[in-house]
Amino acid sequence: MIKFDSNLFFIVLLCIFQIIFNSANRHDNVNFSKTNNNDLQKCLSLSLPLSIRTIYPCNTLTNQNSSRYKCDHFNVSSLSSIRGGRISHSPAVIVYATDNSDVQNVVKCASKLNYIVNALSGGHSYEGYGLGSIYNNIIINMEAINYININQRDRTGTFGAGARLGPIYYKTYQYDKYTINAGTCPWIGLAGHALGGGFGILARLYGLLADNILEMTAVNAQGKLLTINKTHEPELYWALRGAGGGLFVIVTEFKFRLVKSPSLVTTFSSIWYPNATKLVIKRYQSLLFNDKTLNLSNNIFLSMSNVVSLMLTTLPTPNKTNIHKQDWLSSVYGELSTGKNDSDYRQLLLNNLTYPTYNFKAKHLFYEQPISDHSLDQFIDVLALGDGELYLSFNPWGGYISTIPVDKTAFPHRSSKVGIQFRIYWNDGQDEKQQLNWLNQVYLSLYNDSTKHSYINYIDRDVHNWMNYYYHTHQKRLINIKHIYDKNNRFSFERTIQ
Ligand SMILES: Cc1cc2nc3c(=O)[nH]c(=O)nc-3n(C[C@H](O)[C@H](O)[C@H](O)COP(=O)(O)OP(=O)(O)OC[C@H]3O[C@@H](n4cnc5c(N)ncnc54)[C@H](O)[C@@H]3O)c2cc1C
Ligand SMILES: *[C@@H]1O[C@H](CO)[C@@H](O)[C@H](O)[C@H]1NC(C)=O
Ligand SMILES: *[C@@H]1O[C@H](CO)[C@@H](O)[C@H](O)[C@H]1NC(C)=O
Ligand SMILES: *[C@@H]1O[C@H](CO)[C@@H](O)[C@H](O)[C@H]1NC(C)=O
Ligand SMILES: *[C@@H]1O[C@H](CO)[C@@H](O)[C@H](O)[C@H]1NC(C)=O
Ligand SMILES: *[C@@H]1O[C@H](CO)[C@@H](O)[C@H](O)[C@H]1NC(C)=O
Ligand SMILES: *[C@@H]1O[C@H](CO)[C@@H](O)[C@H](O)[C@H]1NC(C)=O
Ligand SMILES: *[C@@H]1O[C@H](CO)[C@@H](O)[C@H](O)[C@H]1NC(C)=O
Ligand SMILES: *[C@@H]1O[C@H](CO)[C@@H](O)[C@H](O)[C@H]1NC(C)=O
Ligand SMILES: *[C@@H]1O[C@H](CO)[C@@H](O)[C@H](O)[C@H]1NC(C)=O
Ligand SMILES: *[C@@H]1O[C@H](CO)[C@@H](O)[C@H](O)[C@H]1NC(C)=O
Repeated sequence: MIKFDSNLFFIVLLCIFQIIFNSANRHDNVNFSKTNNNDLQKCLSLSLPLSIRTIYPCNTLTNQNSSRYKCDHFNVSSLSSIRGGRISHSPAVIVYATDNSDVQNVVKCASKLNYIVNALSGGHSYEGYGLGSIYNNIIINMEAINYININQRDRTGTFGAGARLGPIYYKTYQYDKYTINAGTCPWIGLAGHALGGGFGILARLYGLLADNILEMTAVNAQGKLLTINKTHEPELYWALRGAGGGLFVIVTEFKFRLVKSPSLVTTFSSIWYPNATKLVIKRYQSLLFNDKTLNLSNNIFLSMSNVVSLMLTTLPTPNKTNIHKQDWLSSVYGELSTGKNDSDYRQLLLNNLTYPTYNFKAKHLFYEQPISDHSLDQFIDVLALGDGELYLSFNPWGGYISTIPVDKTAFPHRSSKVGIQFRIYWNDGQDEKQQLNWLNQVYLSLYNDSTKHSYINYIDRDVHNWMNYYYHTHQKRLINIKHIYDKNNRFSFERTIQ
């Protein structure tokens, strides 16, 4: 089944052909050479309160008997939303921090003993990078730093870096229907999401989530606590809004400007027969790339405007159409809210950190021009080569996002109008290599028409020229900032700016 989903419509196609491919499956950084971490265990136990949970995974050690501490049989994959073989390294320790000083103390031990440190917030990195990617690293799990405080007077919210989007949506909504302009999966962690930009259905109206960051508190590579805002550490303030997580400091707290939730969210979906694919995409593109007819500063996907209705009349007749009206909370809770008691679910998320995991892989490209007829034909041909659950999301960027000057934050893709996300899911029984190859072919069929740039929150380890791909015109400035704040690469993983 192929689904094209967007907030406007999706098409379901049935594909019947199969093809077999081979692809290199990478298992980097498997290095089982460390016998023990006695020095680290000693430093942490001396500097952290006894109540702080620490896990030393046994499979990091070549000889468990050589360690003076007790190791745990613990599979780090359980801390990531991606399932399967892409996470292959094993950390020295996972520390469950509860406040700023825990984070500072861990970073100080790491600095003294030369360990790499990675922060884990929601575990939703597309490549599992919240766990880092380098053997024998330290993972600081931020999930317990998840407070949500709202200041109604100045319409701001102060949130612990490990908070999830769902609980933030739920709690801010209780205050006069405030919200944050973030993405739709309620289990995403605030920190990774906000640091990489944070794109959601309110983005065309209010910008990226990062555009509403007023201030942050963070721990630097020396273990020092910093306040970061427009006047304090301004370069860091710039870089942390859009360059992605895990690079310069560990953020412990964010202060955001809150926005007003829309009063009603209308979702429109249609299903066409496969032979309508090209025409539907062309018409949809003519809507997305036409800023004259449509005032793209407005939220075309939150209200059915005349232009959208007009476009729909020019489309082939769908086999099936659904229009669904719901309140803001139900819409951000997505599939969770359908057919269930919504308020139960929303409450549950406040304390429940068990989240779904998937066998999935995603790729993403930005577009400033419509895809050509020729490429669409090639695209339709390669779609027919596979069989599985492939999703393409044609997301409208632009709008308010593009009214912000490109040098105001580290997010460099302000002039992109559309982002296409290519996502594939497979079952444990399905052939992963085959599915990944199909995904790659579909992606390549639309690559040449794109800007050849992408969004860091949809990170993809298979991209070769990734500095240019993600950072575009901001590469030099970001490299400089990395050198200023973390010249020893205390915070690093396989896609760290260096
Ligand atoms: C199901 C799903 C749906 C998604 N939907 C959207 C969407 O609608 N819109 C969108 O924009 N994105 C979306 N994303 C992508 C998501 O925004 C990114 O994966 C984001 O980085 C996840 O943040 P996290 O804290 O959950 O992840 P983590 O894996 O915990 O962290 C991601 C990165 O940030 C670093 N990091 C984590 N915490 C900190 C910290 N406190 N300080 C410094 N660095 C830190 C990590 O080391 C890692 O490099 C989605 C992802 C998934 C899996
Ligand atoms: C593994 O670790 C050892 C010792 O730290 C190092 O010398 C070696 O280069 C590492 N190998 C890989 C593949 O990283
Ligand atoms: C570790 O110690 C136990 C108990 O002393 C012993 O049975 C086991 O063989 C030892 N393992 C190794 C790898 O030395
Ligand atoms: C860890 O769990 C994942 C799935 O959750 C599994 O694929 C992997 O084989 C496990 N690793 C180990 C070492 O047990
Ligand atoms: C930045 O933080 C400092 C320290 O808390 C504060 O004095 C200053 O007013 C803040 N600046 C802005 C623009 O908020
Ligand atoms: C598209 O396919 C449907 C169902 O198979 C068929 O009824 C319809 O005539 C086709 N349309 C065109 C333009 O080929
Ligand atoms: C387009 O949107 C902007 C910003 O919301 C608004 O100022 C402007 O009046 C709108 N223009 C039209 C023609 O609707
Ligand atoms: C078309 O719609 C009908 C009615 O909703 C449904 O039974 C049928 O399966 C649909 N066909 C396709 C190819 O989606
Ligand atoms: C849903 O759950 C809430 C909280 O448990 C309860 O108050 C409400 O009555 C329930 N609603 C329905 C429709 O069951
Ligand atoms: C937490 O949520 C998961 C996924 O929705 C659910 O399966 C599990 O039962 C929940 N656990 C608790 C303790 O509520
Ligand atoms: C994209 O462009 C490259 C270089 O010009 C060319 O080799 C390749 O065939 C093109 N790919 C497609 C799918 O058109």
